[in-house]
Amino acid sequence: MASIGVIDHYRSLLELPAYARTVTLLEGSTPLIPLPALAEELGGGFELFAKFEGLNPTGSFKDRGMTVAISEAAGRGVKAVICASTGNTAASAAAYATRAGMRAVVIIPEGKVAAGKLAGAVAYGAQVIQIHGSFDDALTLVLRLSERQSIALVNSLNPYRLEGQKTAAFEICDDLGAAPDWLCLPVGNAGNITAYWMGFRQYHGLKSSGLPRILGVQAAGSAPLVLGHPVEKPETIATAIRIGRPARGEQALQAAEESHGQIMAVTDDEILAMQHRLAASGVWVEPASAAGLAGLANQLLAGKLDVRGKRVVAVCTGHGLKDPDIIVKYMPAPRVLEANLSALEEAIL
Ligand code: F0G
Repeated sequence: MASIGVIDHYRSLLELPAYARTVTLLEGSTPLIPLPALAEELGGGFELFAKFEGLNPTGSFKDRGMTVAISEAAGRGVKAVICASTGNTAASAAAYATRAGMRAVVIIPEGKVAAGKLAGAVAYGAQVIQIHGSFDDALTLVLRLSERQSIALVNSLNPYRLEGQKTAAFEICDDLGAAPDWLCLPVGNAGNITAYWMGFRQYHGLKSSGLPRILGVQAAGSAPLVLGHPVEKPETIATAIRIGRPARGEQALQAAEESHGQIMAVTDDEILAMQHRLAASGVWVEPASAAGLAGLANQLLAGKLDVRGKRVVAVCTGHGLKDPDIIVKYMPAPRVLEANLSALEEAIL
C-alpha cells in the first residue's frame, strides 16, 4: 500500500490539535527487513528485523516527528522554525518548513555534521548556522532564543515531535501483529527512545499488543546515560549521537527501566563493524544507525542476553548516504585501471 503519511495513517491516535494543517512528504510506512543471516551469526534461534528509517523522505526517522511538529506550527500561523541539530533534524526541519512556506533556521556544531545532512539542509533552503561548540551548546542557544522570539522550536523537546515519532512503534506492531520482544535503537538526545516507549504503551493499552524490552545504545565517548553524568566534550564517529546532555535523558532511563531493558554503550569500532556488517546484508545505514544492533551483538556475543525464540527489532535511524565520508575514510579506495580489456580481466579474475 502506498504511504499516506503518518498523520493520515494514525490521526486518531495522535495528540494533535484540530487547528493543525497537515504538511506531509508521505513519510513513514518504512520496511521491516528480515536479517536472518545476521541473526545466525549472533547465535541463531531468534528472529531479527531492521526497521529501516533511512527510507523516509529526507533519509531519517526525524520526518515522522517533523510532519507533526510542522503541521501543528502551520495551523497556528507560525512563520519560522528553529532547531539545534547534529544534522538529520536540520535536514528534516528544512524540508517540512519549506513545504509549509516557513523559514527554517538550523544551528549545527561546526565540522561535526555529515556531508549528506548539511547538503540536505542547504538544498531545502534553510539558513544554516555553524557554531564553535557542541550540539548541547546549540540546543541551549535555540531554547533561549525561542523563548525570546516568535520562532517555533522543532527539536524533540517539542511534544509534537514525539507524537509523530511514536508512529514507528505502531507500524512495527501492525507489521508483526504484536510488539517485538526486544527493540534496540541508538540514543542521542533521547527523543526517539521516549517516543517509541510512548507508542508501544499506547498500542498495548488499545490493542494488547504487548510491550518490548528496550535496549538503548549510546556511543562510548558520548554516553551520559550510562555514566550517570553529562559529558562536557562528547566524541564519536557516530556524529548523529555526539551528545553529552540529552534533553530527554530522564525519560530514556525511565523507558529502559519500565520496559526491563537497559541503556548501554558501544565503542566506535563496534559501531563501524556493525555498519559494515549491515551493509553486507544490503542495508546501508549511517554509523549512529548501526549502534542499536552493535549493542545487541555486544550483549549476545558476551552471553549477557538470551533472545532464543524471541523477536528482535533494531531501529536503523538514518540512511548510509547521509555520511559518505565515513566509508571513503575507512574503506579501500577503488582501483583505477587503463581502459583496456586485459587490464580489466587481470583485475577481476
Ligand atoms: N540516529 C540518528 C541517525 C540520529 O540523527 C539521531 C539524532 C539519533 C539516532 C538519536 O535520536 O536524539 O532522539 O535519541 N539526531 C538528532 C539530530 C540529535 O539533530 O539530527 P535521539
